[in-house]
Amino acid sequence: VKAAVFASGTGSNFDAIIGRSNLACEIVVLICDKPGAPVIEKAISSGIQTLVLNPKAFVSKQEYETKILHFLRKMDVEWIFLAGYMRLIGPTLLAAYEDRIINTHPSLLPAFPGKDAISQAIQAGVKVTGVTIHFVDEGMDTGPIIAQRALEVLEDDTEATLKVRIQDVEHELYPEVINRLVRG
Ligand code: GRF
Repeated sequence: VKAAVFASGTGSNFDAIIGRSNLACEIVVLICDKPGAPVIEKAISSGIQTLVLNPKAFVSKQEYETKILHFLRKMDVEWIFLAGYMRLIGPTLLAAYEDRIINTHPSLLPAFPGKDAISQAIQAGVKVTGVTIHFVDEGMDTGPIIAQRALEVLEDDTEATLKVRIQDVEHELYPEVINRLVRG
């Protein structure tokens, strides 16, 4: 089973997915919307094909996603895993990959959707936060929840220290959920 990862930034989740020893699918391509993003180097050095597109070079989101879709189809991609992809998925990809697009988010949704979920949690003073893996729909971090793992916010946590622990959880949980989904 072939799958694609979509990412815009650092790519620590990308690394966790491709580094998982018994991953139930093969990551055949990285789709990146940010030329120069560190995740691109990670894919190249792992020998994974990369498609880097600047969405601004397209007249519409539909054209941008149609280009991606052709590429995914050519590569027989069946699943899409978002890993820090900082863009809403549009109707073109949603229709083509119904219930096959998954995302990881660094909070216990529906709390703290969108950007800066970790600093939002710190600001709000919550004592528990966590990680959510969910199906992607047209909204921002709104799709049906597949799995969650909670984590305590410590008295002296900063955004940086909390982020480390949240990402450790993500790196373990996301590949685990991917395996469960792909194996049905
Ligand atoms: C992750 O924390 C993910 O939950 C969020 O964006 C971050 C991406 O980090 N959607 P990385 O690029 O995988 O290191």
